[in-house]
Amino acid sequence: MRNQPWAAAASVPASALTAELLRVQGLAFAWPNDRAALTNCNLQVPGHGLWMLVGGNGSGKSTLLRILAGLLQPSSGQIDCRGRAALVFQNPDHQLLLPSCGSDLQLWLPAELSPAEGRERMAQVLAEVGLSGMVDRPIHTLSGGQKQRLAIAGALASGANLLLLDEPTALLDPESQSEIVELLRRLTRPQEQPLAALWVTHRLEELQACDGAALMRRGQLGRWQGGRALQQQLAASVHR
Ligand SMILES: Nc1ncnc2c1ncn2[C@@H]1O[C@H](COP(=O)(O)OP(=O)(O)O)[C@@H](O)[C@H]1O
Ligand SMILES: [Mg+2]
Repeated sequence: MRNQPWAAAASVPASALTAELLRVQGLAFAWPNDRAALTNCNLQVPGHGLWMLVGGNGSGKSTLLRILAGLLQPSSGQIDCRGRAALVFQNPDHQLLLPSCGSDLQLWLPAELSPAEGRERMAQVLAEVGLSGMVDRPIHTLSGGQKQRLAIAGALASGANLLLLDEPTALLDPESQSEIVELLRRLTRPQEQPLAALWVTHRLEELQACDGAALMRRGQLGRWQGGRALQQQLAASVHR
C-alpha cells in the first residue's frame, strides 16, 4: 500500500497516552422512530493528536460527534471533557454564515475579547490555516478547500482545543484533501498549545495520518489501533 506524504507513526505513540482530554462511558442514543444509533459507546481521547474514527454508513459516527458537540443529548452515559469542543462539518457551506472571512470569524470569537484583541485573534487563526491577509475576502470567492480551512479557523478562533471533524475532506479534490490532512497534522503535533482532533473519515488512506484510529460498528467504538494496521485490516476485509 502506497504511503501518503502525511503518514504518521505506525502505532499509537506511548507519550500520547499519558493525559486524558475526553472520556465517554456507556453512551446511548436513539433517534425517534429508529433503532439505537449508539449503544454503550465508550471513547477516550488521551490528549493532543489526530484521532480518527472510521465505520460503515449509519454506524453512528455523526451522531456521536453531535453529542460531543452538545447538539444532541444522550439518553444515558457519561461525558467528561477537559477540553473545549468545536464541530467542523463535512460541507463548509453549512457552517459559514456571513459574507466575508472576517465577519464569519467574528461570530466565533469569545465575547470577552476587545475589538483589538478580536482582530489580532482573527489574523492569527487565518495565518494558522494558511489564509493570511484574507480577512476581507468574500467567502464566495474561496475554493472548497479554503472554505474548509476557514471553518477550521473559526473553531480555533473560538478557543476550542478539541476539534470534531465529520468527514471534512469528503467534498474536496485530492490536493485540497491533502492540505487539510497536513493542516490538522500540524495543529495536533506537540507544541505550546497542541490540539486534539477527532476526525471521522471514510477515506481509508487518511488513516495513515493519524495517531490512533478506532472502528465504529453498530453504535459502538473499538479500541485505538495504529492507523495503518486498521487501514490494512479494513482493506483486506473489503477484498475478501
Ligand atoms: N436526523 C436523523 N433522524 C433520524 N435518524 C437519524 C438521523 N441522523 C441519523 N439517523 C440514524 O442514526 C443512525 C446513525 O447515523 P449516523 O450517526 O449518521 O451514522 P454515520 O455518521 O456513521 O453514517 C442511522 O441509523 C441513521 O439512519
Ligand atoms: Mg456521518
